Amino acid sequence: MSQYTEELRSTAKAMVAPNKGILAMDESNRTCNKRFQKVGIDTTEEKRRQYRQLLLTTPNLGDYISGAILYDETIRQKTDDGKPFTDVMKDQGVIIGIKVDTGAKDLAGHPGEKVTEGLDGLRDRIAEYYQMGARFAKWRAVITIGDGIPTPACLEANAHALARYAALCQEGGLVPIVEPEVLIDGDHTIDRCHEVTNQTLNTVFNQLYAQGVAFDQMVLKPSMVIAGKQCPQQSTPQEVAERTIQCLRDNVPASVPGIAFLSGGQTVEQAAQHLNIMNSESLISQCPWRITFSYARAIQGPGMEHWAGDANNVKKAQELIQHRAQCNSAASMGKYSPDMEKQPAMA
Ligand code: G3H
Repeated sequence: MSQYTEELRSTAKAMVAPNKGILAMDESNRTCNKRFQKVGIDTTEEKRRQYRQLLLTTPNLGDYISGAILYDETIRQKTDDGKPFTDVMKDQGVIIGIKVDTGAKDLAGHPGEKVTEGLDGLRDRIAEYYQMGARFAKWRAVITIGDGIPTPACLEANAHALARYAALCQEGGLVPIVEPEVLIDGDHTIDRCHEVTNQTLNTVFNQLYAQGVAFDQMVLKPSMVIAGKQCPQQSTPQEVAERTIQCLRDNVPASVPGIAFLSGGQTVEQAAQHLNIMNSESLISQCPWRITFSYARAIQGPGMEHWAGDANNVKKAQELIQHRAQCNSAASMGKYSPDMEKQPAMA
């Protein structure tokens, strides 16, 4: 037991509380700028601040969102009238999370594969973020499916880094979100994705165990088991849900309090539908953990597009953000239906 054990347990539980999921808004400046460019928004720090303000001040955000993951630039920013974003989050009842990895870089000697960096100086950065009010963190590993990849070298390097990150987080009072993302890009079948996700989760949990990470004080953020975007044989929603649950049941210890999926380039409707089926009685009854979302694009997409950098569009953009949060909240309880897509109204 460390001084943080009880706090970590209760934070992890709160992150995956019923009706709620996590808002990922931790895009690095590079990724955020890329998304801005696509919809014609200026790629400046001020625009990023305005956009993150829009997200965090969405009315009733805390009804659907347990916590939000910020980027280092964002955790230091303030609203137009000088209120720190961290205070806005506390008022909304949204737990403060922070991305602490420094990105996926080419893995030496392994063409086409990446390893996530960011362990150097991490202990000190965690201490600073905890002081600023953060209570959980995120680290994303990227696994690409292709000819002869992923290699064991890539799986092991990424799992080892994830485990060392998770142990450092728990030592410093932050609940680690452990995110091994098997990319949806490629023409691989759902069978191949299932196989690779199995290997990935197996390697990750072995490393977490080896590094002494407490499973009841973390949240897993996996990708779903799904055919690659370019695969001629696309998966049905039922297939995605069943394969994903099977894969999790084969690899994730029961003491992990919750699993919060990334959306990974699925459409907003797919992301809600898949999560909903996983939470249907026949599947969720087989699971010891809560199953919810930690989406970025599947919550932000329509709102960002509508805002387009124009202050006159803030209200409608917030309605769209709230609506996606609401749909995914319902899906996390098995209560989503495609009819909900017709009613984007602010609660
Ligand atoms: O690291 C990735 C994000 O946290 C999740 O993003 O839902 O757009 O895949 P996504």
